[in-house]
Amino acid sequence: MPPASSSEAAAPRGTRVAIIMDGNGRWAEAHGVSVTEGHRAGGDALRHITEAALDLGVRELTVYGFSTENFGRDPEEVAGIMQLFMELVEREAPIMVERNSRMCFMGRRELLGDEIRERMRWAEELTQHGTAMTLCIAFGYGGRAEIIDAARAAVLEDGVDGLDEDSLRRHLYRPELADPDLIIRTAGEQRTSNFLVWQGAYSELVFTDTFWPDFAEPDLRAALVEYAARERRFGGRLTEAGAS
Ligand code: FPP
Repeated sequence: MPPASSSEAAAPRGTRVAIIMDGNGRWAEAHGVSVTEGHRAGGDALRHITEAALDLGVRELTVYGFSTENFGRDPEEVAGIMQLFMELVEREAPIMVERNSRMCFMGRRELLGDEIRERMRWAEELTQHGTAMTLCIAFGYGGRAEIIDAARAAVLEDGVDGLDEDSLRRHLYRPELADPDLIIRTAGEQRTSNFLVWQGAYSELVFTDTFWPDFAEPDLRAALVEYAARERRFGGRLTEAGAS
């Protein structure tokens, strides 16, 4: 018999999860605060969800922190996100070490300032030996840009004739990360917005109306339970989600 509610069902362990953290702006508006305060609340949610993910046995968590398109936002908002990001990285990296977890980043780092890039390098080095879970923050990231960067690097290394799926995959920003099993998007929109375009080809999608700052452990657990009930076919015959 199926469990009565998702909160009673066991979430599958070992899952690779990616999240499009949407809705900080609408949350801020609903609470009558500035958009930067909305992003700050989003940063707090990220901290709690990282902890929840580790407890729920998530193996890799990749989150969309800042897209290449986000550079087009109001400069004050962009500056606020950059500042919050640096604070978050500095605060969270030592905590990741305590939790035997790793922190890494993906995106076009050349688009970011020296101070931010230095902070990223520091956090990656500090957390490099973590084995329990990897938190990867996509920052200055675009899925199409990633494919172009990977294709260029693959052709340089292997030549045009050597370009195939394996060589392109080896040149993605984070080739060591597996494709996400599940992509979650908060705040009601039902699209993937240039996130993990290559890696998400077969990912299961779960959408929730909850604004990102309000997204909490029960929401992550419910998404994992929903994912576990899906049938994954990868273009072929039946496989059970969460079984592999
Ligand atoms: C989407 O909300 C969120 C972002 C563009 C930035 C994500 C930022 C955080 C979660 C906070 C800090 C953490 C990091 C990693 C920087 P939106 O502003 O598009 O929301 P809206 O659609 O309601 O306007």
